[in-house]
Amino acid sequence: MHEHDVIVVGGGGAGLRAAIAAHEEGADVAIVTKLHPVRSHTGAAEGGINAALRDGDDPKDHAYDTMKGSDYLGDAPAIETLCEMSPEETIQLEHWGMPFSREDDGRVSQRPFGGLSFPRTTYAGAETGHHLLHTMYEQVVKRGITVYDEFYVTELATTDHPDPEERECHGCIAYDIKSGDLVGFEASGGVILATGGDGQTFDHTTNAVANTGDGLAMAYRAGVPVEDPEFVQFHPTTLPSTGVLISEGVRGEGGILYNGDGERFMFEHGYANNDGELASRDVVSRAELTEVNEGRGIEDEYVYLDMRHLGEERVVDRLENILHLAEDFEGVDGLDEPMPVKPGQHYHMGGIETNENGHTCIDGLYAAGECACVSVHGSNRLGGNALPELIVFGARAGYHAAGRELGEARIPTGPSARTEAETGLDTPVSPGAIDQPDPDAVADGGAMTADPTATVEHTLDGERARVEEMMERDGINHAEIRSDLQDAMTQNVNVFREKEGIQDALETIRDCRERYQNVAVADPSRTFNTDLLHTIETRNLIDVAETIALGALAREEFRGAHWRAEHQARDDEDWLKHTMIAWNDGEPDLYYTDVLLDGEEKTYEPKIRSY
Ligand code: FUM
Repeated sequence: MHEHDVIVVGGGGAGLRAAIAAHEEGADVAIVTKLHPVRSHTGAAEGGINAALRDGDDPKDHAYDTMKGSDYLGDAPAIETLCEMSPEETIQLEHWGMPFSREDDGRVSQRPFGGLSFPRTTYAGAETGHHLLHTMYEQVVKRGITVYDEFYVTELATTDHPDPEERECHGCIAYDIKSGDLVGFEASGGVILATGGDGQTFDHTTNAVANTGDGLAMAYRAGVPVEDPEFVQFHPTTLPSTGVLISEGVRGEGGILYNGDGERFMFEHGYANNDGELASRDVVSRAELTEVNEGRGIEDEYVYLDMRHLGEERVVDRLENILHLAEDFEGVDGLDEPMPVKPGQHYHMGGIETNENGHTCIDGLYAAGECACVSVHGSNRLGGNALPELIVFGARAGYHAAGRELGEARIPTGPSARTEAETGLDTPVSPGAIDQPDPDAVADGGAMTADPTATVEHTLDGERARVEEMMERDGINHAEIRSDLQDAMTQNVNVFREKEGIQDALETIRDCRERYQNVAVADPSRTFNTDLLHTIETRNLIDVAETIALGALAREEFRGAHWRAEHQARDDEDWLKHTMIAWNDGEPDLYYTDVLLDGEEKTYEPKIRSY
């Protein structure tokens, strides 16, 4: 058993920032991560960090843009915290040596990004996440923070009280990929989940193969609600053959989108008459697919992104990485030819419900970064807002877990925040679905003891038994299940959604859950067993996908990234509310909570959103 004050699960941007903060506060902190930290998916973030740094800009304008971008589903206390703290966190990175791109006068460069009223995206070429990761990893090494890399956390060690708000998290269990052992980690201060995204629920995604929603699924099974899971971002510019991201920075620098008829469709077809290519991502992705669906795409699949007119000097100076990606993955020279692009899954706005200190409704359990939902992005995230989210809320979670007083949180969490009992669904969410918390509910795998060590040991025994069974069983391979799940999500819960398709996806997901009961690991080896790793991940994908589909089926309106064929307008009267899905004794329980539109100084009144 390993013991620390604070355990951070995940070594990407949010995890590293959380660990540094906890260490600064004097905690004995350890990072437990399935990848070496600098291989984390934050390294694939290209575009930048939004921060109101310049004269003429203001965190209040950043907050307004973010609330509008969220289609009024973000929570004002979270958004204002993000926008106020982003400048200081960005400057902190600069002081740690982050190699930001600069102007001739030495100031950190900023460029326009979609949905922003000011060019406030700081960047380091088109490799901002890579540099951010390396900068923070240096700080982790400098401080001597313990890193257990290639330790895959499979389950949380929580106590088992019928009311999730009375549960406690005392640690987690990890599969040591190198030795093949399952080991327990006990945390006296808290466990911070920073496991990133879950893009592998779809088959065309910018996300790495490791992005399997592990933290989200574990928190969900432990009893923490998943907030707004139906809101998934599809980035407008991904390479058609692989899903590799072509940064919004290309459009920020002046790149233009054309359809197969050579039209600059964002303007010529009236999708965004003011901002054109720099409308928010949901708007641009729908526009591209509409062009393709109406026969004006190229090869019935994609559109063109052209940066030739920017000139070699500017492209090499600010976007060099894009030239390599287009050449390596699509065989296209971006200086000579337009690049083929289409929408692809990129980011999950929904996630583990937390307050602005990163705390969940379970004592000792935190989440930060993409796996969390605090909620700053609401129904659509603005480009350049993910990296500030992970440094701001990573730091807050780290400080809080280590005992720093951050003031009372304004965002309520847990089932007691529910505002209504009805599900909003005219079809039941699942056989035997329940509206109210079951008085006898138990966390999946939770321990009926309050003793921290016994809780971790109980969970460890359960995980050992589960893995042994999968290793010994003669059953089906995870790959079949995973691929059926990804197909169903990609076909039916994509940019354009309709009721029947979502129901089909839900049926497939439930069939995947059934088949998973009989999943087997074919590779008998103990060390570096990626078959075992992917098998464990696949359960997480099933849990995450089910919440996405359930939330999407229930939400009968069109808001942000959630477009519904049958409901073509935003409906503030009935749907200005957060979806919450809680795993309640083996069943998803769907309910709603209020959106917090009251900021420190103003109320953000929902307006018609146009670009
Ligand atoms: O397009 C991009 O560079 C991605 C940025 C982001 O998702 O924030």
